[in-house]
Amino acid sequence: MSNIVFIATSLDGFIADKNGSLDWLNEIEPIESGDMGYSDHMERIDALVMGRNTLQMVLSFDVEWPYSKPVYALSNTLSEVPKGYEGKVFLVKGPLKEVLKKLNKEGFKNLYIDGGITIQNFLKEDLIDEMIITTIPVLLGGGASLFGELNNPLHFKHIKSERFDNGIVQNHFQRIG
Ligand SMILES: NC(=O)c1ccc[n+]([C@@H]2O[C@H](COP(=O)([O-])OP(=O)(O)OC[C@H]3O[C@@H](n4cnc5c(N)ncnc54)[C@H](OP(=O)(O)O)[C@@H]3O)[C@@H](O)[C@H]2O)c1
Repeated sequence: MSNIVFIATSLDGFIADKNGSLDWLNEIEPIESGDMGYSDHMERIDALVMGRNTLQMVLSFDVEWPYSKPVYALSNTLSEVPKGYEGKVFLVKGPLKEVLKKLNKEGFKNLYIDGGITIQNFLKEDLIDEMIITTIPVLLGGGASLFGELNNPLHFKHIKSERFDNGIVQNHFQRIG
């Protein structure tokens, strides 16, 4: 069972800019072949667990629903799944260990954990096993940070680095000890 982060950050560690926008991600030049590991990652996971804000950001994009795996959206405020997404999005809430226990019991073993606050909350409880971080060479100067405060340091082992032909670097880390 693995809880995996797959996320893009700016050079200065932000996942959204000062306006909460992801427009800076659209400036990435596509690579000649492949999608910088995204489809391999999606193949590997059984479900996504994302924060409500990230769900709402995805729903605001004028694109087809991008996920073929179930999305478990963490929220204390949503009382129902947004219209049209029944069967694709499922609401969950409560202590993360309980949420994970329920999903693992249902057979969802490898989970894609997404959303800033959500990732930070998982890390606070030492519940992240792997992080695949794609660094976009831009300094945003502020915004939503990927990482926040922790009670204790968490050590990771470096597994792999890849430099794509658009100059973007991706690092893969695994939690140790
Ligand atoms: N750069 C990238 O690759 C990337 C990827 C993903 C997201 N983002 C960006 O990051 C931003 C969104 O992240 P975010 O930090 O605002 O938050 P988020 O993690 O997406 O959502 C936070 C919300 O999740 C809910 N939540 C979290 N833990 C919960 C729990 N245990 N039980 C119940 N509800 C829980 C709460 O929703 P309620 O308020 O409903 O209770 C909380 O307000 C957006 O700007 C998004 O575009 C960037």
